Amino acid sequence: MRKICVIGVGYVGLVTGACFADLGNPVTCLDIAEERIEKLKRGEMPIYEPGLEEIVSRNVAAGRLTFTTSYAEAVSGADFIFVAVNTPPSMDGEADLQYVRMAAESIAQVLSDYAIIVNKSTVPVGTGDAVAEILQARGKKVGVDFDIVSNPEFLAEGSAVHDFLQPDRVVLGGTNRDASEKVAQLYLPLRASIMITDLRTAEMIKYASNAFLATRISFINEIATICEKVGADVKEVAAGMGMDKRIGRAFLNAGIGYGGSCFPKDVKALTWMAEINGCHPQLLRSVMEINRDMRRQVLAKLRELLGSVRGKTIALLGLAFKPNTDDVREAASSDIVHLLQSEGANIRAYDPVATENARRMLKGVTFCGDAYSTAEGADALVLVTEWNEFKQLDMARIAASMKRKVLVDGRNIYEPEQMRELGFEYRGIGRG
Ligand SMILES: NC(=O)c1ccc[n+]([C@@H]2O[C@H](COP(=O)([O-])OP(=O)(O)OC[C@H]3O[C@@H](n4cnc5c(N)ncnc54)[C@H](O)[C@@H]3O)[C@@H](O)[C@H]2O)c1
Repeated sequence: MRKICVIGVGYVGLVTGACFADLGNPVTCLDIAEERIEKLKRGEMPIYEPGLEEIVSRNVAAGRLTFTTSYAEAVSGADFIFVAVNTPPSMDGEADLQYVRMAAESIAQVLSDYAIIVNKSTVPVGTGDAVAEILQARGKKVGVDFDIVSNPEFLAEGSAVHDFLQPDRVVLGGTNRDASEKVAQLYLPLRASIMITDLRTAEMIKYASNAFLATRISFINEIATICEKVGADVKEVAAGMGMDKRIGRAFLNAGIGYGGSCFPKDVKALTWMAEINGCHPQLLRSVMEINRDMRRQVLAKLRELLGSVRGKTIALLGLAFKPNTDDVREAASSDIVHLLQSEGANIRAYDPVATENARRMLKGVTFCGDAYSTAEGADALVLVTEWNEFKQLDMARIAASMKRKVLVDGRNIYEPEQMRELGFEYRGIGRG
């Protein structure tokens, strides 16, 4: 029986802990956020992630999954210690590693037997070595041995449980191949492709993967901007491109850009890493610049349709950075709200699950209970997050309730012709 400890019960840690427990392992999840642990002990979820609650409660009931705020309790007897704490961006874009260091210090203080420390947080290349140094300093004093393995996580919020249980690949990197092979054993029931490499390469694979996906999004958004000028439809362009097996269809949806807790910070952190190592990351800089511009396009389209937005009421549908999550970190909604408020617009907004998180971040916004009440009396409607429930709205009812029938479709989910037939002045992204 291999005992697992997971540090950090956010989107990655809680999914990791719950899924490993579901595979039959005894798992203890730890967090320094007491309210998160208290909630989990009461059977409440601290985050919204489809399918997760059921797995958590099943494994708590089976006695395989427990929660604590005590490092001594969580680390004691653990064969594997997964670190899944947050690594937010600092002011200059560099990854802020204070939580990773804190976790390493706390592990070092209580580690009394050999364990494999597996890093799941997205960390700059070389962090594994830094964590090893923190533990070595302590290990030398007490004579405890350990190994560090990097195991970057590729799950996406909204489909995290599926992604964890059916990964395209599991990447493991370490200085001791035996340790990586032991971690690989934990994943064997998933029958996934497992790649074992060195520590720094594993860390880099994560950044390179996220930067590549962000690049595809910015690429199609650049094409969208050109489509608008030359009278082409980017949705058709992407469909035509995607039929080429060398290109594929994934991450070619034009819109108001990527957000969330990963792509923005990871592209920034990779750019920073490149710069301090003497590289000139022009492509990465352009990816970020295009993404910023896509947010500004919303304001430009509203100005074109409404004249000034000053004193106008703009209704936003969707606040989460993408559908099926309550995560609002670096969401397009936040940039759009700030841009519109700085021009004197009044904002009404609705999201199926992210309203509580958005309320903490966005001031001066009127939050509504559904899409219809949000649109009522508004001068313009902006589709920000492509939740399924927005795809089947009664758009005739929405049009009839608005002061002006202006629709900016930030994710291209509506058919331009149908919307125009309903009387909307419609603008999508790249639908020339
Ligand atoms: N969210 C994603 O979709 C995703 C996907 C892949 C990788 N990642 C990476 O995984 C890591 C975690 O991301 P997340 O979205 O799950 O973060 P999160 O913010 O949802 O959760 C992090 C948790 O760690 C806890 N924590 C912070 N410091 C701690 C400490 N010293 N000891 C114990 N707990 C501590 C926090 O209280 C929080 O509950 C990040 O590096 C992120 O880049 C995230």
